[in-house]
Amino acid sequence: MNKFLEHTGVKYPIIQAPMGWIARSRLASAVSNAGGLGIIETSSGEVENCKKEIAMMSSLTDKPFGVNLPLLFLKDDSMVNFCVKHGVKFVTTSAGDPTKYVNVLKDAGIVVYHAVPSLEGALKAYKAGVDGLIVEGTEGGGFKSPIEVGLTVLIQAIKKEIDLPLIAAGGIVDGIGMASAIAAGADGIQMGTRFVSSLESPVHTNFKDSIINAPIDGTLILNKKSKPVVRALKTDLTKKIDEEGVMDMSALMNIKSLYFDGDMNAAPALSGQSVGLIKEVKPVQDIIESTIGEYNEVCKRLSNSKF
Ligand SMILES: Cc1cc2nc3c(=O)[nH]c(=O)nc-3n(C[C@H](O)[C@H](O)[C@H](O)COP(=O)(O)O)c2cc1C
Repeated sequence: MNKFLEHTGVKYPIIQAPMGWIARSRLASAVSNAGGLGIIETSSGEVENCKKEIAMMSSLTDKPFGVNLPLLFLKDDSMVNFCVKHGVKFVTTSAGDPTKYVNVLKDAGIVVYHAVPSLEGALKAYKAGVDGLIVEGTEGGGFKSPIEVGLTVLIQAIKKEIDLPLIAAGGIVDGIGMASAIAAGADGIQMGTRFVSSLESPVHTNFKDSIINAPIDGTLILNKKSKPVVRALKTDLTKKIDEEGVMDMSALMNIKSLYFDGDMNAAPALSGQSVGLIKEVKPVQDIIESTIGEYNEVCKRLSNSKF
């Protein structure tokens, strides 16, 4: 039995990535209703709105869902306490050391997976006692490690050292990506950019169109010598930041204008290398069903091509 399915009770081992303002109840419930695991973000820092979004999930789906807690950005224990009190069953932690909250969450019966971009981070999280890991390769969109290790290499390296369920994230949009992640040792996948460009995603059409029109080399990793390091679409703004070689957190201040007003140069348009593989806006259910269908076809093809 797939350990991630056992931990969550979902039909398919597909998680929708946490994404500030985007991973709210409309998108997350569509993913959960289609058999994946929808996640509600809290990285926007809009604590009260996020609490409402979590509470709303029970009226939109009777399927499992989760919440992401970006540890460095939590101002206090309020979100953690809310998850405990409101019967949240699955939490992904990210951006920081999971040690502080892992026992509180686990004592409340919550399954905790921690997001890591490196083997070193994975070993620390394992020691902290998390139940699983989200392994983020350099291909992914959003905040990144300055050390660029590709997903397949990272999954294999972590699998060799750590016996925990691993969810592969970064650059995956379909069943081929899913099959290659599972072949490398993952138990499931997480997709961000693919769901940003789904029908149910709340972002402006300009952002979705920029994703589906982007070429395979359509993203840049920005700010490798400083913080934050992010992967984003090539736009006038990000090409300028790339040339200058520096960026600070204020570059992301107007990201809501990009997400919801469609101003593609209001902030870096966070996206994974997966943009080059996404060709149309599709409903979440189609994305999940075609991913699983393609995954099963790849498995069949591979079992017929043994050497
Ligand atoms: C638009 C966008 C916003 C993101 N925002 C967040 C965030 O707020 N918190 C976080 O932990 N990760 C964030 N990420 C990273 C995703 O959680 C995920 O790891 C990544 O998208 C996986 O790679 P993919 O986009 O190629 O599927 C974001 C990614 C994207 C594309």
